[in-house]
Amino acid sequence: MLVLGIETSCDETAAAIVSDGREILSNIVLSQTDDHAAFGGVVPEIAARAHAHHLDAIIREALAVAGKDLSDMDAIAATGGPGLIGGVIVGVLTAKAIAAVQQKPFVAVNHLEGHALTARLTNDVQFPYLLLLVSGGHCQLLAVEGVGKYTKLGGTMDDALGEAFDKTAKLLGLGFPGGPALEKTALNGDPHRYNFVIPLKGRPDSNFSFSGFKTSIRTEVVKLAEQGDVTPQMKADLSASFQRCVGDILQERLQWGIRQFKERWPNGTALVVAGGVAANTYLRGRLTDIAAEHDLALVVPPAKLCTDNAAMIAWAGLEHFRLGNVSSLDFNPRARWPLDEAAA
Ligand code: KG4
Ligand code: ZN
Repeated sequence: MLVLGIETSCDETAAAIVSDGREILSNIVLSQTDDHAAFGGVVPEIAARAHAHHLDAIIREALAVAGKDLSDMDAIAATGGPGLIGGVIVGVLTAKAIAAVQQKPFVAVNHLEGHALTARLTNDVQFPYLLLLVSGGHCQLLAVEGVGKYTKLGGTMDDALGEAFDKTAKLLGLGFPGGPALEKTALNGDPHRYNFVIPLKGRPDSNFSFSGFKTSIRTEVVKLAEQGDVTPQMKADLSASFQRCVGDILQERLQWGIRQFKERWPNGTALVVAGGVAANTYLRGRLTDIAAEHDLALVVPPAKLCTDNAAMIAWAGLEHFRLGNVSSLDFNPRARWPLDEAAA
């Protein structure tokens, strides 16, 4: 069984082909980073136009690398949301057109579900598992009981974790996208030079908050700037301290979430981390320790399958398709689509 996946919900134009044997035959990702860098963030209209411009060629490339033809596909999957609506429309319309012409089923995939199920493609993780989803727009802790079966245990009350990385990187003038830039800068820094606020400490639930944490970093940077130049070493120390505090926050918050998960799903054995922030090597190390402390196995997909890609969309589409869940060609692209809500 082969599925073509299409991802266009943010600033990556991507197409991939995966098989039910968990093989990634091709995985093409065109990042628009350079188109948006001058603006310090993703500009939705620029993103939508770039998707419309490049998607056909990216799909052609995915087919060529896999050595397959559209007629070899068993289903066509595309991100149906949540995301920047212009881009989502481009991907959904393209997938519907291919499906209609080739007379193949179309599957609208929730982008978050793509992240959530990637660990089954890469590591064959069995249900149920605990999922920490940390991306540019999301920070959630969920129990994954099956395909399409998610129970949210907690989420952020304000900012997403990726956003905290991006905004802190911007504050320190490290460039865009912020997560990878901050991680690189932190390599030369002292993680204990600065201390920042650890929000919600001791609160017995699995929610997250990053706004007070972000403000405490801003306050520190403003104070340093008033005293003189913020040197490259200071930036490295601030970045390393930021990451160490993120690790401390996750450790503190996850202890409650893991307790909740184990009470309700005692046969669950894995903590899966997904989304762009899961690409961070330092946090992977911290999360390995956190999982071990609670007798869970940590599963994190390879970095290039943590950040946005179409292999995860093809895979989630495949998981739905083989259960008989396909979408109508009337499916409406969705800017908002909570993971615990079924396709409309
Ligand atoms: O999942 P993703 O590619 O797109 C969304 O669906 O949001 O996540 C993007 C987010 C951005 O905030 C980016 O800065 C962050 O993931 N990110 C990282 C790293 N790579 C990407 N954050 C920390 N360390 C990284 N190495
Ligand atoms: Zn994503």
